[in-house]
Amino acid sequence: MPTSKSSLINLSLYSKNKIESLFESSLQLKFLNKLVKSDFKKQQHANGQTAALLFFEPSTRTRFSFEAACIRAGYHPMVLDGGIGTSLEKGETITDTILNIEAMRPHFFVIRCNNELNLQQISDSISVPVINAGWGLQGHPTQALLDTLTLFEKWKSLDNKKILFIGDVKHSRVVASHFELAIKLNYQIGICAPTEFLPSSNTNTRFQHFDKLQQGLEWADAVMALRVQKERHDGSPFDVQNYRENFGLNLAALSSLNKDAFIMHPGPINYGIEIEHSISKDSRSLILQQVENGVFLRESLIRNLFKESPK
Ligand code: CP
Repeated sequence: MPTSKSSLINLSLYSKNKIESLFESSLQLKFLNKLVKSDFKKQQHANGQTAALLFFEPSTRTRFSFEAACIRAGYHPMVLDGGIGTSLEKGETITDTILNIEAMRPHFFVIRCNNELNLQQISDSISVPVINAGWGLQGHPTQALLDTLTLFEKWKSLDNKKILFIGDVKHSRVVASHFELAIKLNYQIGICAPTEFLPSSNTNTRFQHFDKLQQGLEWADAVMALRVQKERHDGSPFDVQNYRENFGLNLAALSSLNKDAFIMHPGPINYGIEIEHSISKDSRSLILQQVENGVFLRESLIRNLFKESPK
């Protein structure tokens, strides 16, 4: 059984070589999945091994893709989805819930939680790996990895590429992980956001700031619109109309984007706020390819925990 040293809480232990090797094996899994009569598909069976997927915050993409990835990698996923129907409703703590499920000997955990849980401490205190599936504002490393895998598939390298993040950067754990990953893969980060959504000034991160969306779009090789995360705001009024006019991606704004640049969004999308519905059909949009690649990236990551590779 692997040790918790294989955990993925943040990207600090991931070198450029390790990340690019993960990308290559993810793309190999994607290729093998397209072979209808692949022997590899026949090898996928659970063998009685389990993985505990604990989602204490809502999720669609991350939860379903980890479930699919577990099954594809040969692990039966045991899913806790939001806590309804569990003993959390009777007052059991999240920490006790995790310790009790650990006693059932899953091979690894996948956990989504808010800032109140210290996922690093949890990972240090249990004997099997923990994969961060979105931890408060701290990070969402597998989302940043699948975003960059999707660009790696197109570009073969992210070296010196320019990615513009638009909108609610302050509350984005996805961008927090991109700040880590950009240093490893040597891509540049640009930010275009209303003042109240800029990262706090004590953030030890480097990025190029654009006041005007047009300038950012002209600069970028790829743009990532971010969801306005109202559930994490402090209750201050939010002017949707003003946001849409100055930071929304629509047909007029995208006339400033290079024809070879890509449009992305980690999801879920607030259509009509950060992005117009028609944009998801733009030939430059990679939004559903991000979702598709999320399964293979996570499958590859799980196989890597146990050092298996596809035959
Ligand atoms: N991108 C992302 O984390 O989506 P979900 O919240 O649906 O998992």
